[in-house]
Amino acid sequence: MSSQIQLKNVSKVYGKPGSPDAYLAFDAVSLTVAPSEFVAIVGPSGCGKSTLLRIIAGLMPQTSGDVLLDGRAVDGPPEGVVYLFQQYSKSLFAWRTVLDNVMFPLESAPRSERARLRERCIGYIRQVGLAGFENKYPWQISGGMQQRVAIARALAANPRVLLLDEPFSAVDALTRMELQSLVLDLWRENRFTAVLVTHDVEEAVFLADKIAVLSHRPTTLAEEIEVGLPRPRDHIVTREDPAFLSLRHHLMSSLLGDHARTRAHA
Ligand SMILES: Nc1ncnc2c1ncn2[C@@H]1O[C@H](COP(=O)(O)OP(=O)(O)OP(=O)(O)O)[C@@H](O)[C@H]1O
Ligand SMILES: [Mg+2]
Repeated sequence: MSSQIQLKNVSKVYGKPGSPDAYLAFDAVSLTVAPSEFVAIVGPSGCGKSTLLRIIAGLMPQTSGDVLLDGRAVDGPPEGVVYLFQQYSKSLFAWRTVLDNVMFPLESAPRSERARLRERCIGYIRQVGLAGFENKYPWQISGGMQQRVAIARALAANPRVLLLDEPFSAVDALTRMELQSLVLDLWRENRFTAVLVTHDVEEAVFLADKIAVLSHRPTTLAEEIEVGLPRPRDHIVTREDPAFLSLRHHLMSSLLGDHARTRAHA
């Protein structure tokens, strides 16, 4: 299978390597992501998940190792790679309407294209379930709706690769499930490659084809797990599948480790 993203022995040290304040975020992480694959990265807080995603996005250099996109070294934000942040409230422009937020990535398009692109963006807004809200401002819609706007804006950039950093952690449990299904539908329709960082084991199992598990410090890649659950995934059916529960059990045990047992016997 060809790979779209390749990480080969990637390490990241914050601060000057060898200096007293040098901080090893993670060491020797190797991972491949195939075109149109959905990969989740899970790991304990502070293990370097966001750092790894920012390196894949070309927003920050690795200290050593190779990061390749379509076989070419990443040395800055590549075309077609879109990053969806956790905090939609900070990523949307409060002074722009929903439609103008979604159109933002297309701002540099020629004037003659604008009417066509506007229609396309209205289509994305419809795809995320916000038809009729085009002229509202972010502060006039709920948090879950704001995250939908951020997703529509990501689609407007026509991503080959969508990187998602804990994108649903600021919304309530029910909205979170709706957004997970929405992202799966959009992924199926638009066939982009998805890499999602999450601390939520069930979210990872529900969404992904493959899960990369990062370890506690010193962080390395502890495990790669093929999910193999049938698609399309359904919140009720999939979450009751014995294979789902067994993967959840395995991941919870490895991430919680001794903490789970200590609490259970307390
Ligand atoms: N700009 C920075 N300068 C120095 N150290 C940093 C910087 N950014 C992150 N770190 C350190 O690197 C480690 C990994 O941070 P990162 O944000 O990647 O973790 P994470 O797995 O995304 O955590 P969380 O689950 O809490 O979001 C942390 O210990 C953090 O303190
Ligand atoms: Mg993070």
